[in-house]
Amino acid sequence: EDLNLKEIHDFMISIAHKAGEMITAAHPTTGAAGSKKNSVDLVTETDRAVEALVSTSLREKYPTFSFMGEETYKPGDTLTPAPTFICDPIDGTTNFVHRYPYVSISLGLAINLIPTIGIVYNPFTKELYTAIKGQGAYLDQTTRLPLAPGRPLEGLSSCQVAVEWGSDRSGNDFAVKSQTFSKLAATKESGGAMVHSLRSFGSAALNLCGVAAGGLDVYWEAGCWAWDVCAGWVILQEAGGIIVDANPGNWEPRVDGRRYMAVRGGDGQRQVVEEFWSHVQGNFE
Ligand code: IPD
Repeated sequence: EDLNLKEIHDFMISIAHKAGEMITAAHPTTGAAGSKKNSVDLVTETDRAVEALVSTSLREKYPTFSFMGEETYKPGDTLTPAPTFICDPIDGTTNFVHRYPYVSISLGLAINLIPTIGIVYNPFTKELYTAIKGQGAYLDQTTRLPLAPGRPLEGLSSCQVAVEWGSDRSGNDFAVKSQTFSKLAATKESGGAMVHSLRSFGSAALNLCGVAAGGLDVYWEAGCWAWDVCAGWVILQEAGGIIVDANPGNWEPRVDGRRYMAVRGGDGQRQVVEEFWSHVQGNFE
């Protein structure tokens, strides 16, 4: 089957814009706005309504494609090689309920489990990140990413690093994260900083786009899902970035692998991966 990727990409952009209108029109509150998966993993009425709009529109236009979305996912659902739209209706739900405008809709298409089209749209700032595998990554469909090409990476100590705490606040994985963060935030034994900065912005999809654009050098997280990363993954790769496992040693993670590290394009990116891995305090489960 020969798919017209450009047509699918354009349709996905139109859906992202509609979803964006719903997101900016909503008036979430931290308390009353709906149920919670646990005390810190929020899901709002808007998350559900946006996913319903997105899945209905996509199924109508592409009835043979599969669909996986954060709000309708059931434990045990697996990704298959079939063309699958993978959607996070609101990536950055906590920011959304606090009205901090680092929020996006993340809409990806995976074929044979390979992220192939990525659309990430922040409806508050109106930034649109897009990519089709093999055809480059763009900001607002006009500006090629990365924004400042040709900059080498000069080692971890000059990197701006994004990490996320995620919603789990205990257990092995929490310990690995928090110990790694504190190692990275500290001074090296030999003196000097481990990293330029350690940031935690609250949207996996926008973090990946930030690495694609080049403003972030590294993004490291364990615990995210295919819908958090599928779209940003294509955008990152098309901008020359690489995505590897957050656990040391695995250069080829799966889109549903839950743990990732992204490094922007530029000479020296593999050395940055190895340097970062050498500081990871333990192993994620
Ligand atoms: C979450 C955000 C958060 C990241 C989590 C994601 P959600 O997505 O991207 O930054 O730490 O791993 O699940 O729940 O806001 O859609």
